[in-house]
Amino acid sequence: MDANKPRRYHIKTFGCQMNEYDSDRVAALLEEHHFTRAESAQSADIILLNTCSVRQKAADKIYSELGRLKKLKRDNPRLLIGVGGCLAQHEPARLLKQFPCIDLIFGTQALARLPGLLHAAAAGTRSVDVDPDACRTMYARLPRPVIGPGRTSAFVSIMQGCNNYCTYCIVPYVRGTEWSRTPDEVLEEVRLLIDSGVRDITLLGQNVNSYGKTLSPPIAFAELLGRLNSLAGLARLRFITSHPRDLSDGLIACFAGLDKLCEHIHLPLQSGSDRILQAMNRSYTAAQYGALIDKLRAARPDISITSDIIVGFPGETEQDFINTRDFIARIGFDDLFIFHYTDREGTRACRMPGKIDYAVKIQRLRELNALQRGISRQRNELLVGSIQEVLFEGPSSRNSANLAGRTRSNKVVNCPARQDMQGRTAPVLIEKAGIHSLSGTLFQEQDSP
Ligand code: SAH
Ligand code: SF4
Ligand code: F3S
Repeated sequence: MDANKPRRYHIKTFGCQMNEYDSDRVAALLEEHHFTRAESAQSADIILLNTCSVRQKAADKIYSELGRLKKLKRDNPRLLIGVGGCLAQHEPARLLKQFPCIDLIFGTQALARLPGLLHAAAAGTRSVDVDPDACRTMYARLPRPVIGPGRTSAFVSIMQGCNNYCTYCIVPYVRGTEWSRTPDEVLEEVRLLIDSGVRDITLLGQNVNSYGKTLSPPIAFAELLGRLNSLAGLARLRFITSHPRDLSDGLIACFAGLDKLCEHIHLPLQSGSDRILQAMNRSYTAAQYGALIDKLRAARPDISITSDIIVGFPGETEQDFINTRDFIARIGFDDLFIFHYTDREGTRACRMPGKIDYAVKIQRLRELNALQRGISRQRNELLVGSIQEVLFEGPSSRNSANLAGRTRSNKVVNCPARQDMQGRTAPVLIEKAGIHSLSGTLFQEQDSP
């Protein structure tokens, strides 16, 4: 091996679970090409940023990171800097212009071509690969994901892209139009993960309900879930994210019928005002969303429901905001991710009139966060005294004598337990509830009265 060739890589991942998954696949590819993982960014010859562009804050984080890397490169001119993922796909020209330290840009569909791009960059060619539809079999071309020892849960990307074009959202432009992996490819990957000790699988897609529509023959998402549910060795199955528009009765029935499908759904609402939902191109009303929640709770009474909300969408009046606030209180979500609207260049909302003042957006954000903290605590308190099946994932960040795990409903539980319980499930008696987590003790049969 040529000792002068850059060989040690470091990947820094921003954004959602799909980026985490993609970074793991990229790492497996680089290792197959004899690159080795660097201990730290400082000791690396190649630094790759896997970026996010969904909100302005996500983009700002990348700009600051690139500002820091610029200095690192000044000290080590041989360092190669690559920027990939959604921001790279969104604004390659701007990044190249603003940050001369960047050696290569790889878009969301370019992962399998990364080794070639790296070799070109090492030879002094600044390369850019951002064709959004360039590889719809990308994952099939990458080596199998490598799972480190002790991992109990893993992500599996099953589809990507989005055809929904919500007016505020950049994702359809940076992840392209929807495409799905074949069911056989997904099943094979899940089997492999089970063989490596994984028990809890989360299927990923920007819009998982549309899974399989582009395949020939097409297959429904509910059917894929059914096939995965029958895999021996798998304990838990989850998915993110669903759009309320195509949450079919078939999929709702899966929550009643599939024993491994966990009782949790993340179903982004975005707003409780019909006027704003329409301006967002969400294609449902608050009442229709409420009806879906009723159906889900009828299918699985203990289902936990989480959601995303945007406050301060262009034109959002005080009354629209009150409608959202009241609707949130009525549904009683287990948890909410609340964002203040930011413009993303290229989207329809970016060109809409009626932009809301930053101070008003932040005021609304704070109000909803305060409301939800109370609701989350109440929802969690309902579990005090119950026995929950917990899958232990690793040491608790709060107390090293404890293990942390998750319930099937995706709530974090801290519990005193031996290290060898890691990777195993056990019944836990829930004794205390906080806003974001629960704590309890291992339940033994003789404890029962
Ligand atoms: N595919 C998923 C997630 C998309 S991005 C879905 O459809 O739900 C995650 C969340 O970011 C969105 O649900 C939305 O609440 C938020 N978001 C997207 N674009 C935004 C923008 N321009 N400003 C503020 N929040 C935004
Ligand atoms: Fe964005 Fe809407 Fe697609 Fe979600 S469904 S990725 S919010 S366009
Ligand atoms: Fe961000 Fe791309 Fe995910 S924009 S949220 S990393 S799909």
